[in-house]
Amino acid sequence: MDEKLNKMKIPEPSRFKGKALLKGKKCVVTGGALGIGAQICYTFAENEAEVIILDFNKEAAEKTKAILSEMIKNSKIHVVAGDVSGRKSLNRSFKEISSIFNGSIDIFVNNVGIIQPCRIEDIVSDEQSKIVDRIIDINFKGTYYCASYAYPLLKNGNEPVFIMIGSCASVGSEGQGVYAGTKAAQRGLLGTLAKEWKAADDYQAVRVGLIEPDYLEKTAITANKQYWLDLAAARRTTVDKISDAAVARTKVPLKREARLTEVSEVVMMYALSTYLNGEALSVSGGKTMRL
Ligand SMILES: NC(=O)c1ccc[n+]([C@@H]2O[C@H](COP(=O)([O-])OP(=O)(O)OC[C@H]3O[C@@H](n4cnc5c(N)ncnc54)[C@H](O)[C@@H]3O)[C@@H](O)[C@H]2O)c1
Repeated sequence: MDEKLNKMKIPEPSRFKGKALLKGKKCVVTGGALGIGAQICYTFAENEAEVIILDFNKEAAEKTKAILSEMIKNSKIHVVAGDVSGRKSLNRSFKEISSIFNGSIDIFVNNVGIIQPCRIEDIVSDEQSKIVDRIIDINFKGTYYCASYAYPLLKNGNEPVFIMIGSCASVGSEGQGVYAGTKAAQRGLLGTLAKEWKAADDYQAVRVGLIEPDYLEKTAITANKQYWLDLAAARRTTVDKISDAAVARTKVPLKREARLTEVSEVVMMYALSTYLNGEALSVSGGKTMRL
């Protein structure tokens, strides 16, 4: 079994549970098999949306589908396997999505993202530069191409919205240069998409949003000890000084990291709004407030 499945956090009911706020909505969540993505799928499904999990980890996606189907009565969950970093794969996946949803999408959540800590001056070998390319391929190109494939289907949707999951690291994060760069690039895409996807006489606008979580309870990636060892090495410090829980206690006014439901609830709020557009919202417990 995939090691990530053992560390998988089971999604939980949100504060919107049972309100049927997304009744009949057609939603796609990339990276919906694990972590934040699985929690977003849960929150959507418990509000009666029909959900497609688009993920390259088919085993995890099927497990999440089974968990959600068991926990939420009459939920409609589908799995589409695919790698968001490749146009060939996306072409196949979007054909399948279009056929399941009859050519339209109402809510598309571009959640996939990967991280590998590394200090910029430490990228000295071809092997290490492959990591840089991989993060750019998945986080940046993946978002870009998902947007380009999703748009024709979103245009046919009901009050359509494209929401990206970014990170507060977009303003810069020691030891996470390439990750931070791809998350900052999503801000550039946010403004571009909001301008390109404006309304015209013969078609509706597609709203765009960016949700940037900060310190978070553990997901598959941050439950991995090696991740923290690598981050500590890149920051020239020790693991005990940088864990999300420890840092949140000192830097976040709420003195704790976010629960996954607290991210999925903001995604819901953005999706439910009809006038929020082109905005980046941080879910940082007040750490990134600008007054
Ligand atoms: N975990 C955090 O602390 C944190 C904090 C801020 C922002 N984020 C962002 O939230 C998003 C989700 O993070 P997470 O921690 O839940 O991640 P995760 O590693 O727990 O899950 C990521 C999911 O994406 C899938 N995936 C990865 N690469 C893929 C690809 N090329 N094609 C298709 N599927 C792919 C994985 O199979 C997995 O299901 C990311 O964009 C991340 O940058 C996470």
